[in-house]
Amino acid sequence: MSKKILVTGGLGYIGSHTVVALQEKGFEVVIIDNLSNSSLDVLGGITRITKVSPEFEKLDLRDKNSVKAFFERYSKIDGVIHFAASKAVGESVQNPLLYYENNINTLIYILQELKEREDSRFIFSSSCTVYGQADELPITENAPVKKAESPYGNTKQIGEEIIADTCKVVPRLKAISLRYFNPIGAHPSANIGELPIGTPQNLVPFITQTAAGKREKLSVFGNDYPTPDGTCIRDYIHVMDLARAHVVALERLLEGEQEENYEVFNLGTGKGNSVLEAIKAFEKVSGQKLPYAFADRREGDVISAYADTTKANEVLKWKAEYDIEDAMESAWKWQQKLEVKED
Ligand code: NAD
Ligand code: WQD
Repeated sequence: MSKKILVTGGLGYIGSHTVVALQEKGFEVVIIDNLSNSSLDVLGGITRITKVSPEFEKLDLRDKNSVKAFFERYSKIDGVIHFAASKAVGESVQNPLLYYENNINTLIYILQELKEREDSRFIFSSSCTVYGQADELPITENAPVKKAESPYGNTKQIGEEIIADTCKVVPRLKAISLRYFNPIGAHPSANIGELPIGTPQNLVPFITQTAAGKREKLSVFGNDYPTPDGTCIRDYIHVMDLARAHVVALERLLEGEQEENYEVFNLGTGKGNSVLEAIKAFEKVSGQKLPYAFADRREGDVISAYADTTKANEVLKWKAEYDIEDAMESAWKWQQKLEVKED
């Protein structure tokens, strides 16, 4: 019998791609989303790709009673992948309580329900932001967690601690935190992708919107960093690779293969690219010249961050298959599809 997986935030960017990957592997999916940063159209996109419409419950996970009632209604949930959260770093500085409520309370309410269940398997969306500027590159999972630069980053650190502490006293709770580096790109079919609301804060949606003529030019934040070309270095990972990693991690939990009941993995490509290299990759695959200008450094940016992926490669037997050009190509295709929709 196929396994039933709850995907919170399943209509969001990474969640929707993971729902596709799960359905393609034969999992049954139920999505919870409050549509605070997504749209019901995403359900159609998922269905067009997989020919299967996932179950969907519009529910705000900040409402503890609704979370409880959901788990009463769904007595058979084999695993939970928890994407739902607020993710804008700048907004978290302006409105920390929104971030602590949405990213911490929701996590606690779900764990409180899972703790009561026989077999609970849980995957948490964490972030490379927990490392801050690491002292050694590439970054392994053993690198120290640095004091968070933002309330958003802090919610990921606290979230991981909450899960680790809970797993210590609830041995039947099996959990994995996945620390994503910089997710980019879209499904190659362009049926789903990233939907940034307002002015994008992240590099790739800003690049594609600029190329589409919606923004005048890209500001490259800083060209005097101690890197080969002076711009910051990141590990850009295709969202398709990321989605597949969730399925692999889930299978590890379902098959009881984990060595400890709480584990942490980096998810990146292992390769760092500078902002200028990212622009070049975009220009190559799109055939477009991207207007950009150097600007001041952005507060809070680390100089360089890329993953040591040995643990994910060896333990999860997962490895990123796409490169930055593949990711840029799919992001550009998705942007062009959005433009057609808006016309
Ligand atoms: P997203 O905003 O596209 O998806 C999150 C989804 O959760 C949205 O559909 C939103 O409507 C929903 N949601 C938010 N609060 C909710 C609530 N209270 N109840 C129900 N639904 C709620 O974000 P994403 O980029 O897909 O990120 C998914 C997860 O990965 C987040 O936890 C994020 O912090 C983490 N993460 C993202 C990145 C990134 O760069 N995108 C990097 C590292 C970690
Ligand atoms: C990438 C590079 C910018 C925009 C953020 C969060 C992190 C994680 C991933 C969730 C940097 C430069 C960007 C622009 C630019 N999210 N840039 N001009 O900051 O590495 O990580 O998303 O957990 O927590 O902080 O990603 O895409 O914003 O920036 O020059 O207009 O592009 O300075 O070097 P970042 P990003």
